[in-house]
Amino acid sequence: MTCRRRLFLATLLFAVLGTWTSQYAAADETAKQVLVFGGSGGLGSEVVRAAITAGHSVAVFVRPTSDRRRLAGLPVTWIEGDVLVEADVQRALQSQRFDVVVDALGRSEAGVEFFAISGRLISKWAKATGVGQLLLHSSVGVGVSRKVYPQNRFDSMAALFRAKGEGEEAVIASGIPYTIIRNAVLRNLPPNTPDNAQLFEDESKFGMVSRRGLGRLTVSCIGSDTCYNRIFHAVDDGMSGR
Ligand SMILES: NC(=O)c1ccc[n+]([C@@H]2O[C@H](COP(=O)([O-])OP(=O)(O)OC[C@H]3O[C@@H](n4cnc5c(N)ncnc54)[C@H](OP(=O)(O)O)[C@@H]3O)[C@@H](O)[C@H]2O)c1
Repeated sequence: MTCRRRLFLATLLFAVLGTWTSQYAAADETAKQVLVFGGSGGLGSEVVRAAITAGHSVAVFVRPTSDRRRLAGLPVTWIEGDVLVEADVQRALQSQRFDVVVDALGRSEAGVEFFAISGRLISKWAKATGVGQLLLHSSVGVGVSRKVYPQNRFDSMAALFRAKGEGEEAVIASGIPYTIIRNAVLRNLPPNTPDNAQLFEDESKFGMVSRRGLGRLTVSCIGSDTCYNRIFHAVDDGMSGR
């Protein structure tokens, strides 16, 4: 091989390697280690699916009895525990270093205090273990958004909203960059139906949103400083109104 040909091949190799490593580094920088509480549920499974599609590594906190069928075949790490047991939350967060924690829990059979307790425990151990971002799904009706919640239904929901408010406060007080996403009416979209869910900083925004849309919006906030320390209302104006 001539000297000129060797030089050409070496230059080509460096160029190809350079492009490959810079692409790999970019993908690696944005890929996060994500822990999802409630990941086996309706909303949580949409978050997990969207996070995997976006290239993140996902661990899912489930009870031994949780139905895992919504996540069948997906590459997730399972961490078993009960979110109301502090030692279980501590063990989950100490099992590896997580960049991001998502709370998409629903209370199943528990009382409304579930949201206050789970919010406090997750925030406490996320802080203690150096988590970089905390995303909490909450409800319209909490805090100042109570004024847009239909008055005739508010009284029956007041205790739940109070407990969810305590969960929000724990997340904010943790000092971890947080994103709180509230929804008012959560529905499933049929497959192939477009999702037009959006995040609004206007805390008087009220409307329906799909679990799929919420999953997509949650993942769009991962690592995005435009979402840090913000409370959003998620609404899909394309879904029928109140
Ligand atoms: N439906 C609406 O219109 C509406 C409106 C506003 C807000 N929301 C809120 O949106 C959130 C998500 O709703 P969803 O219907 O998608 O929830 P979901 O399907 O009921 O999922 C709840 C998830 O939380 C898990 N979980 C419950 N208790 C747990 C515990 N002690 N330890 C660990 N995991 C536990 C469940 O696991 P298990 O299978 O083990 O129980 C499940 O994975 C809820 O907070 C709901 O209140 C709903």
